[in-house]
Amino acid sequence: MQSDVPGHKQDFPSRRGVMDRSVMEGQGYYNQHSRPQSGIVEFALPALRRAAESCPLDEDARDVVIADLGCSQGRNSIEPIAQAIEILRARSSSKRPISVVHSDLPSNDFNSLIQLIEQDGSSYQRRFEHVFSYFQGRSFYGRLFPDSRVSLAWSSAAVHWFSLLPAPIPDHIWAPRAAPALKAAYASQAAQDWLTFLRHRSQEIRIGGQLLIIAASVDDAGIAGGDGLADQANDVLTSLVADGALDAAEYADMTIAAYSRTLDEYLAPLVKHDPDIRFAVEETAPQLLICPFDAEYEEHGDIKRFAADYAEFFWATYGPSLFTSLRRPRAPEEELELGAELRRRLAAQVATAPDLAACQWRMMLLRLVRNSD
Ligand SMILES: C[S@@+](CC[C@H](N)C(=O)[O-])C[C@H]1O[C@@H](n2cnc3c(N)ncnc32)[C@H](O)[C@@H]1O
Repeated sequence: MQSDVPGHKQDFPSRRGVMDRSVMEGQGYYNQHSRPQSGIVEFALPALRRAAESCPLDEDARDVVIADLGCSQGRNSIEPIAQAIEILRARSSSKRPISVVHSDLPSNDFNSLIQLIEQDGSSYQRRFEHVFSYFQGRSFYGRLFPDSRVSLAWSSAAVHWFSLLPAPIPDHIWAPRAAPALKAAYASQAAQDWLTFLRHRSQEIRIGGQLLIIAASVDDAGIAGGDGLADQANDVLTSLVADGALDAAEYADMTIAAYSRTLDEYLAPLVKHDPDIRFAVEETAPQLLICPFDAEYEEHGDIKRFAADYAEFFWATYGPSLFTSLRRPRAPEEELELGAELRRRLAAQVATAPDLAACQWRMMLLRLVRNSD
């Protein structure tokens, strides 16, 4: 499929791994600059509580396993996991062991994650006993658990990331801005990825177990919600090429490796008769998530702060994905400076056109329950 997609550069290998296209900015930066994602989590909490109320608990003393899929550095995981534990505790003995497996790509910043879970005062580890945390560096497009091991799986703002990017967009960075042929290739890869994800979870989640997903979506007009900010970032990148800070070939390879699915695309493998997919759809809920920076700006009125918030969020979430495309030999400090310059220029763009930057993310919640075999 790759060779006939416009813009694909077969002879232009990345110097980072394929998976690094979807990892967040490290050294705790994502934890500090992911408040929009925390709004997504908040929306999903009532459905998570319903999932925790009805997932299976045996009478024996075996641990109950919660999976946190695509956890990043954990800041947005601690509250949902704490709420799930609280409900599971109320449903069984206070000594019943609960295992929480935080899972993400091998290049994730696990140091920040582990420190947060083990040491931070806000962690569920400070609130509950007999809870065991595990940290797993493996793609959720592969098997993560033995058969029927998981009672409750949670994944927020993660399953819209590709397992691999079919091809870069030569003149933009944002999938909704791709030409139709490329969009079709993205849709096909996203369908394959979602199928793979569901097939693995069908094996791993116990009968009656629950899978709660909240991830990027698009509305009927194909709007994902971050389009204006992505346009501004794209303008910044082209200005960096014009100034010689970035090579044209580096820019041409830069693409955020994520795809926002329609509800029909999320449901397609679940409503088809696929013997490898064993989930019933319990709930779906679209959500329009207005970025918290907008309401905060109304209160504080500081355009510089508003612009910095957006630039830092953009960098925390998408910077590493874009910078997998850097090829020119650069010293580490030069690369850091390039990232800092991107943020400065993006903040300046946002400050000039704040209405364009303002993000209204279209998200989709799905609560799935594992069928009997
Ligand atoms: C936007 S962050 C969301 C993090 C966190 N769940 C939250 O709500 O803030 C997306 C996370 O998904 C992870 N991710 C992307 N593709 C993945 C894959 N194939 N397997 C596991 N994790 C993946 C990224 O590394 C990143 O940490």
